[in-house]
Formats: sequence, C-alpha cells, structure tokens
Amino acid sequence: HTHGQLLNQILEEHQHKEGNLLPILHAVQDHIGYIPENLIAPIAQAINRSSAEIFGVISFYKHFRTQACGDIHIEFCQAEACQARGSKEVEQAVKEMLHTEWPNATLEPVYCLGLCAQGPAVAVNQQPLARITLEKIKAKIQGVAT
Ligand code: FES
Repeated sequence: HTHGQLLNQILEEHQHKEGNLLPILHAVQDHIGYIPENLIAPIAQAINRSSAEIFGVISFYKHFRTQACGDIHIEFCQAEACQARGSKEVEQAVKEMLHTEWPNATLEPVYCLGLCAQGPAVAVNQQPLARITLEKIKAKIQGVAT
C-alpha cells in the first residue's frame, strides 16, 4: 500500500540496529514530509514495540508530525529599505531552513509590504511580520502550519 516500499527500505536499513526508533521516524518524515499514521503499526511490529509507544515518542518530539503540513507561502520583501536593514542575510538563512524543514513552502519576492521602518519584513500566509529574524519566521510558520 501507500509508502509501503519506502518503509520497507527504511526498516531494512535500521531494523536491526540499536536505538533505531528515532532514526526510523526521522527517515520517514524526511522522505514523506510527515509520519502517516498507517505506518505506525508496521513500524511498531518491525522493531518489537507497541504502536502506543511510538505515538508517545512522536507526540513528545515537536519535530515530528502525523499530518502533512499546511501550505506555507512566504513573501519576502526585496525593496530597498528592507535590503538596507539586512533582508538578504535573513532571506538566505530562511531559504536554508525551509529547504530542510519545510520543503513544500514557497518563497516569493514582494516589493514593499508597508513596513519599511520596521524591516526587514515578510508576510507568512498573508500575515505581515516586521523586524524579522530566522527564529521569528520559524515560530510563525509553526503557528500557521499546525
Ligand atoms: Fe520592505 Fe517597505 S521596503 S516593507
């Protein structure tokens, strides 16, 4: 069934190693973007744990999710006032963060969000955010995506 083959590959690689639960969960989420609930029982079976235990681990670590994340759309101000306030550097950091953590997010240029005096500025799913830092954007994405 869905993702079955991928899961088999992941299990084959990790099944007989010690402390394999977290690496398995990471591998699944890295490939699929989340951990589909229908994979939890087969994972549990393969490594002799209970499904409840695995759900527990998933909910303990904020990093893991069992649903595809909502669409993230980030508009990054490219206009002069924001550039003068260091927008390019933040943008580079945000790009790298999105690449590893929110690969489905889209990043688009905009030219002035009307927050020039409080730049650099972005809008995350239409919600404007001033004086941005990587941490601020991360928190915002987590807020709109879950
Ligand atoms: Fe970026 Fe105006 S220049 S908000």
